[in-house]
Amino acid sequence: MISKIFKIQTSVLLIILSLFSIAISSCEDKATSQTDPQSESNMVEKTKTYQDANRPQFHFSPPANWMNDPNGMVYYEGEYHLFYQYYPDSTVWGPMHWGHAVSPDMVNWEHLPIALYPDKLGYIFSGSAVVDWKNTSGFGKDGQPPLIAMFTHHEPEGEKTDAKDFQYQSIAYSNDKGRTWTKYEGNPVIPNTNNIRDFRDPKVMWDETHNQWLMVLAAKDRLQFWGSADLKNWEHLSDWGNQYGNRKGVWECPEIFPMQIEGTEETKWVVLLSINPGSFNGGSGTQYFVGDFDGKNFTIDSKFGKDIQNGKGVWIDYGRDNYAGVSWSDVPKEDGRRLFMGWMSNWDYAQIVPTKKWRSAMTLPRSLSLHNTEKGYRLQSQPVKELEQLRTKKFALKAQKLSDKMVLTDKFKINAAQSELVLEIDLKTTTAQAFGIELMNDKGETYKVGYDVKTHRFFSDRRGAGDLSFSEKFAKEIHYSTTHTLKDKLKIHLFIDAASAEMFGDNGAIIMTDIFFPTEDFNKMAIYATDGTVTLLKGEVHNLNTIWN
Ligand code: FRU
Repeated sequence: MISKIFKIQTSVLLIILSLFSIAISSCEDKATSQTDPQSESNMVEKTKTYQDANRPQFHFSPPANWMNDPNGMVYYEGEYHLFYQYYPDSTVWGPMHWGHAVSPDMVNWEHLPIALYPDKLGYIFSGSAVVDWKNTSGFGKDGQPPLIAMFTHHEPEGEKTDAKDFQYQSIAYSNDKGRTWTKYEGNPVIPNTNNIRDFRDPKVMWDETHNQWLMVLAAKDRLQFWGSADLKNWEHLSDWGNQYGNRKGVWECPEIFPMQIEGTEETKWVVLLSINPGSFNGGSGTQYFVGDFDGKNFTIDSKFGKDIQNGKGVWIDYGRDNYAGVSWSDVPKEDGRRLFMGWMSNWDYAQIVPTKKWRSAMTLPRSLSLHNTEKGYRLQSQPVKELEQLRTKKFALKAQKLSDKMVLTDKFKINAAQSELVLEIDLKTTTAQAFGIELMNDKGETYKVGYDVKTHRFFSDRRGAGDLSFSEKFAKEIHYSTTHTLKDKLKIHLFIDAASAEMFGDNGAIIMTDIFFPTEDFNKMAIYATDGTVTLLKGEVHNLNTIWN
């Protein structure tokens, strides 16, 4: 974190540092006294309407104040748990807690009291949670399996010195469906003996194939795999990856999981890896690798392709605002989906975006699948089907050739700022150089997202989308995806929620997630084509409901 804070302009830095020291003292109070649950629920009550400017209406955001990475994502007894990096006393990063919410469907969220507070071992950094079905840890009670959370303890005083051992891994358990947590008295379960300052973000899974708890964490510019029989005693299995993919930044929030290749019986292992900086369009982003895992070592499959050899990396999202995402643990086998969610921001500017009571939201939940493509093994992401419950009104677009701009909001009662679009384009008869969807407001602010036919790249352009003053890094240029050549048809699936766009291009083969801050809501929406026509085969637009009533 220190390195992130250094990158912020000096004046902002001073404000942050003073908030930071207030924060540390207030956090120490909390570590012993805990927050009064009454005042916490008051806070939720006060912000329940979620009416602040640019506040997402169907994305998860905290009741108030600062949030970063999703943590501890686990499904248990009908509830998707979402814990998150939370600083409840300010809108900038500070002493980290685990905030908590639950949902029956990953769409509607109920806020719960803070799950984990900083303590004498340090702040509670990112980590994961699992259901210990066989009670291997012995923390179960009354025949019920415990939930086990594994996280990094970050000792802030050590960070200020030359010490290299101020991040280490700890566990906590819950016997009441995640409502209350007890930290293990033997913490830390993995001390830092690496001589590496960055040693964090454990993601645990039950590795059925090798009959072990498997954990991966990030250690500066490599991953470390660890194995355990009881979640308390851990053995270092291997190190991986200091020569692959994009290596421009610090590695954070990794994950490993097996996945069947679509349409085959073959299983490969996928490694997700967030890195900051170094992302495709700058700042923080999440790359991935596909290969094999033999119970100790991960090796990349040659069919993953060449992109990782030149430092370019293959990214789960080509927009700028999807970071530190991982998947839910213990999703029932009958469901079978690999469900993912990320933090919808970027460390380049996350702490200074123009929001007042709250800072940042999560991405929409997505379902991942693995495909054997011309480029090699590639992940695709789809918005989860549970999101369809948000649709309130549908407008069908007929097949037509479009040139210039068709303003959809002139024809239909579309709520541009809270909408979903599905468009199918015939590329064989499309002559335009580029086409896309444009959002506008009465102040002349615009946001554009679409496909550049000439260069075979998706793009997201927020250069005119409202307030850009807070950071030079926010909208320097158009964000382009990697080249993605399409032959016949293109399907674009887009979600707009006040201050964010998530574009799933070509069935989720390329995604672009970007946030923006119009100074007035976007109230107009158009489909446009430049230098030619675009052939729309069919399309639909949905107005979407809020989840915060
Ligand atoms: C990623 C990260 C993690 C760390 C957490 C601290 O965004 O830097 O590596 O655990 O945030 O809040």
